[in-house]
Amino acid sequence: MGLTVAEKCIQNALVAGDMYQRGSRIGIKAHQTLGHDLNAIMTFLALDQLGIDHVKTELSVQYIDHNMIQADYKNADDHRFLQEMTSKYGVVCARPGSGICHQLHLEHFGVPGKVLIGGDSHTPAQGGLGMFAVGVGGFDAAMAMAGEPLFIKMPFITKVHLTGHLPEKVSAKNIVLEVLRRIDVKGGVGKVLEYAGPGVATLNVAERSTITNMGAETGATTSIFPSDENTKAWMHAYHREEDWIPLSADEDAHYDDVIEIDLSKLEPLIALPSSPGKVVPVREVAGTKIDQVMLGSCTNTALNDVLSLANIFEGRTVSDSVDAALYPSTRTVITESIKRGAFGPLVNAGVRIFEPMCGGCNGCGFAPQTHGVSVRTTPRNFPGRSGTKDDQVYLSAPETAAASAITGVITDPRDLDFPSFHYDLPDSFDEPANLFYKPMKVDEVHYGPNLKPIPHFDKHEEIESGEVLLKLPDNITTDHICPAGALYLPIRSNIPEISKHSFMTIDETFPDRAKKANGGILVAGENYGQGSSREQAAIIPRYLGIKAIIAKDFARLHLANLVNWGVVPLTFENDADYQTIKQGDVLTVHLNEMTADGETTVTNETQKKDFKVTTPISPEDVETVKWGGRLNQMRNRSDAHVIA
Ligand code: F3S
Repeated sequence: MGLTVAEKCIQNALVAGDMYQRGSRIGIKAHQTLGHDLNAIMTFLALDQLGIDHVKTELSVQYIDHNMIQADYKNADDHRFLQEMTSKYGVVCARPGSGICHQLHLEHFGVPGKVLIGGDSHTPAQGGLGMFAVGVGGFDAAMAMAGEPLFIKMPFITKVHLTGHLPEKVSAKNIVLEVLRRIDVKGGVGKVLEYAGPGVATLNVAERSTITNMGAETGATTSIFPSDENTKAWMHAYHREEDWIPLSADEDAHYDDVIEIDLSKLEPLIALPSSPGKVVPVREVAGTKIDQVMLGSCTNTALNDVLSLANIFEGRTVSDSVDAALYPSTRTVITESIKRGAFGPLVNAGVRIFEPMCGGCNGCGFAPQTHGVSVRTTPRNFPGRSGTKDDQVYLSAPETAAASAITGVITDPRDLDFPSFHYDLPDSFDEPANLFYKPMKVDEVHYGPNLKPIPHFDKHEEIESGEVLLKLPDNITTDHICPAGALYLPIRSNIPEISKHSFMTIDETFPDRAKKANGGILVAGENYGQGSSREQAAIIPRYLGIKAIIAKDFARLHLANLVNWGVVPLTFENDADYQTIKQGDVLTVHLNEMTADGETTVTNETQKKDFKVTTPISPEDVETVKWGGRLNQMRNRSDAHVIA
């Protein structure tokens, strides 16, 4: 039987398990890793604690793009720490301001057929180049850098079969919005979304990357495109054609299911507040008054996006009732945009232009006003992520966002009269010098006062009885658990400080109650922990004493983080048990009675009854959790179930 593109990549990196058994546990070794400033502080602290002295990958790259507002010393201290640590460990480090990690990696390092493990949930952006790219938390990124395999469930593979051509004014973002419209924020769990069919050839690498990037919002392990002549042209334009290889699925490759999309039939789509899965045609909400438009992020600020925006804004202005801003993705995109005169129409229209960074996407600048309605080209719109607690964020393609900025209301771009837009990838991009630091000689690494050691967590012998401190609904995001925004991101690696804000958008009393109760248990609905890769969303509940979380189910990436930090994940066997539990009930989890299948009993001491739960993790991961997390386990490596 032939292989899919994803299987060919996995075969290239497989060190444990059977890739022909979908859903079984496999180990893959990264050829490359990627990290950014927000998660990599923990990565380097972990490498330091484990006594690793040099990365063991073909290439590891560190970016500085998330924590860029230097309102005090904290972010600047982190930047210096990362420059020093990367030099010490043999990691390439981008200068702050060189660009957003996913786009910079796409320009300079991504290679078809290889496996990338990245400390960010949108790492699948590299799938646009034909890379098998998986997002993880900072600790798993550290393990990958140390040459350890990443263990995942062998994904099922869904073919997304594209036919036809996108109509005018309907750009590539609408393809992934259509995928989300069909399968929502959980439809990709345990799967790879592999794009195929004649429609693939109509998309350039930046467009493909927008699709694979935002594929993360379906919960998919990753998304991937073949590597073809368009991929070759992209790599040629970035002066690295020698790294290109062709990569496509075999004729007789087996897919587990198929999604058919006729590109010609797509129309402008938009995700409603506050979930990327609430997708409707733009025309259904056209006329909704807006306050803000954010253009850019790691999706939708390649050169083709900026040129398309300039084409729309030419001779027009942003509505007086709207504040609009552009975050270009890299310095190369800025250089090329200036060269082509694209910034002129944007500046004249009143679009504010920020430096290449994540910025408003995760609430680090450009937060909307109170109750503000914001249309964004970002991949994610979870409540409060913009920095404003009661935000109303819509997600769209750049053309919809630009048209809406001009009219002041959500606007289908087909209703605005602007010239046709056509883009040809340049033969060669002019690249600014000095995008990446040269390695420096490090005599001493500087730890700023905000950099605190990783907290120590004890082994689990048994879960003592604990109070249900929060009963949560479906789709709790990592933004709920550990807030984003300019006020909180600089303290994200300072666990004692950031823990004071855990679940602040749901219940501000939670951290104090957890401390007073000396810990407890969380109960949640479906898809607990969806969203970003931030492992602090696992660490801070653990720091506050949460030892177990019982949910209907968990998001993949967050589940891995819970294992790494020694929080016991359990799932309800019966929905009725979730319904019956009340916040404040006292539960006892009988961890040591867990069967080989991961089943055990929980006693509800308050309601005087037992119910069954199962852990969704493998026996090996149960061992890790019992160690109190992977750091403890790795320190006791001779006893540990890890592969060298
Ligand atoms: Fe940055 Fe937002 Fe992308 S935080 S990595 S621009 S999803």
